[in-house]
This record gives sequence, C-alpha cells and structure tokens, in this order.
Amino acid sequence: MKVGLIGIGGMGNVHFNCYKKMAGIEVAVADIRVDMAKEKVAGYAPVYESYEEMIKVEKPDFVDICTPSYMHADMAVKAMELGCHVLCEKPMSISSDEAQRMIDAKEKYGKLLMTAHVVRFMAPYVYLKSVIDSGELGKPVHIIMHRLSEAPKWSWENWMLDTDKSGGVALDLSVHDVDFTQYVFGQPKSLEASYQDIKDNTNYVCSTFFYDGFSVNTVGAWYNASIPFRAEYLAVFENGYVESKGGKVTKNGAEVSLEVGEASENTGINLSGADGYSDEIRYFIDCIKCGREPARVAPESSLTSVKLVEEILGKAVRI
Ligand SMILES: NC(=O)c1ccc[n+]([C@@H]2O[C@H](COP(=O)([O-])OP(=O)(O)OC[C@H]3O[C@@H](n4cnc5c(N)ncnc54)[C@H](O)[C@@H]3O)[C@@H](O)[C@H]2O)c1
Repeated sequence: MKVGLIGIGGMGNVHFNCYKKMAGIEVAVADIRVDMAKEKVAGYAPVYESYEEMIKVEKPDFVDICTPSYMHADMAVKAMELGCHVLCEKPMSISSDEAQRMIDAKEKYGKLLMTAHVVRFMAPYVYLKSVIDSGELGKPVHIIMHRLSEAPKWSWENWMLDTDKSGGVALDLSVHDVDFTQYVFGQPKSLEASYQDIKDNTNYVCSTFFYDGFSVNTVGAWYNASIPFRAEYLAVFENGYVESKGGKVTKNGAEVSLEVGEASENTGINLSGADGYSDEIRYFIDCIKCGREPARVAPESSLTSVKLVEEILGKAVRI
C-alpha cells in the first residue's frame, strides 16, 4: 500500500510520523516547500514539488491531504480523477458547496473519501460516545465542550488567520466539537450561537445545540493570549458524569483507564488522545483493503459538520 502525502507542514508531519511507524506502507510526499519537506523526511520518502506529478509518477493507492483548508476540494477532486482514494484533513472543505463537489467527484470516480475527523478516534471521545450509547449513566442532561488555544501564528504564509482560507476559529477549531456532537446525536432541533472578534484576527465562538431533553454547548477560541492549548469536556447525565480534563478522563470522579493505541509524538495540540491520528489512518487503510465505505466518517456526515458551522456563523449574535 502506498500513500501520497500532500503537504508536510504541522499536521502533515504528524501524519508522516504515523506512517513511518506502520508496517507495509510506503510514503511519497508533495509540498511546494521542497527543501523544508526534504529536511523533514530525511531520505525516508521521495519528495515532489507538484502533487499531480507525485500522483502520476508514484501512483499511490491513496493520498492524504494535509494542505490549507481552502485547497482541500480542488486537490481531492483532482486526486480522485487521477485514480486515488482520498483521506483529507478536517474541515472537509472551506464551504459546503466545495464539500459537495468532493462528494460528487467520489461518486463520479468511484473512490473512497474520508475526512480526518480525528476526535472521532481519540480515546476520551470514543469513551464518551460509549457511555452515551450504552445508557449506563442514563440520558444526557448537559454537555460542555471547550477547545481553547492562542491564535495559531505558525501556519504557512499565516493562512490560518485568514478567514477566507481557513474559515476562522469556527470552521478550523470548533468544527472538532461540532462534528463530534452531530456524529453522536445527529442534527440538533435548533441552535444558538455567539461570536466575538477580539483583535488581530483572534476570535471565539460559542454554540448551543438543543436536542430533546438535553443540550450541548461548544466553545472554540483563538485568544490573543499565549494560553496553552486545551480540549476538554464535562458530560452530565441523569445518574452521573464523565469529565475529560488535563489529560485525564474521570467517571463520577474516579479516573478511567483508557485503551490507548500507539502514541504519536506530542503535537502540542489535542494533548489528550494524540493516538487518534494513527487510528484514523489505520481505519481508512482498512476500508481501502476491504473495499468498504468509511462509515465511521461518512463524507455526508463531514459535509453536515461544515453546514452546521455555516449555520452557526449565520445565526451567531455578534458580540
Ligand atoms: N486534525 C487536527 O487536529 C488538525 C490540527 C491542525 C491542522 N489541521 C488541518 O490540517 C490542514 C493543514 O494544516 P497545518 O496546520 O498542517 O498547516 P501548515 O501551514 O502547517 O501546513 C500546510 C502545508 O501545505 C503546504 N502547501 C501549500 N500549498 C501546497 C501545494 N499546492 N501543494 C503541496 N503542498 C502545499 C505548505 O508548504 C505547508 O507545508 C488544515 O486543513 C488544518 O485545518 C488539523
């Protein structure tokens, strides 16, 4: 099995290190910053400047797109046209129209397409879903999810802080919790939101999703302050609670020991459950090997997350 990794910046490097630890997988890399890419791969994989050239020469089974979000749709469509299955970083794309274009291409070319919604594979969230699904603590009452960071100033050409290129904090960061919420509970009956621009492209978004008998509150922030990244939740049920905080998951106050896979390196982000990156990649490779649709992150479900973010931004009270 061969993967063509497109983009080896921050997240591409995390994926590259996952592939290096996997048996039976060859890697080729494409990045317009060829020197930087060669330094990172240190001879482990061939490096190309053009991803199309890389696909034509290397003929990978699938590509893994880790480029800025506004490039996802064009690259995914082209890669499928050239015969590859596509794993693509979140958000699926910069808009729901672009995401729909990816789904249309998947149908047209008969390829597998999966968005790398890593939170669906991270141990603390896999555990939370299992508690919800089993009903062991009764019905949910209220779930609070936070994803807070200083504004990302490290991206290539600072694309992340350009809302037209990243979708801003709502589509780039808060989408993790929005996606998890709709993955577990489906479409909310209604939602409310607020949004605040702070300064110098820093901002925060707060959303509340209303379901029958419970609500989910998600907060995503890129603060103009150097606070350490944190992604946490508190889920309160009729008969108890589950909390993920400071890298620990507790149920009714007692620490839960989670099965974690092979840990990837400390990414500085998503501190808890960093192993999810390898798990999501392995899952997609298994789908290719078995010729099975990636039902755990169906493309239509990733599209729903982009649509929900659009609804949040459309309805948000501007503070
Ligand atoms: N799942 C997560 O936890 C997570 C975390 C961070 C970022 N992401 C997502 O990963 C994607 C990449 O983000 P990042 O932080 O790695 O950004 P980045 O700026 O660090 O890296 C982007 C890379 O793409 C390369 N690139 C630009 N144009 C290219 C082209 N035409 N062909 C090939 N390479 C090209 C750049 O040189 C750079 O190396 C984004 O969609 C982002 O939302 C996901």
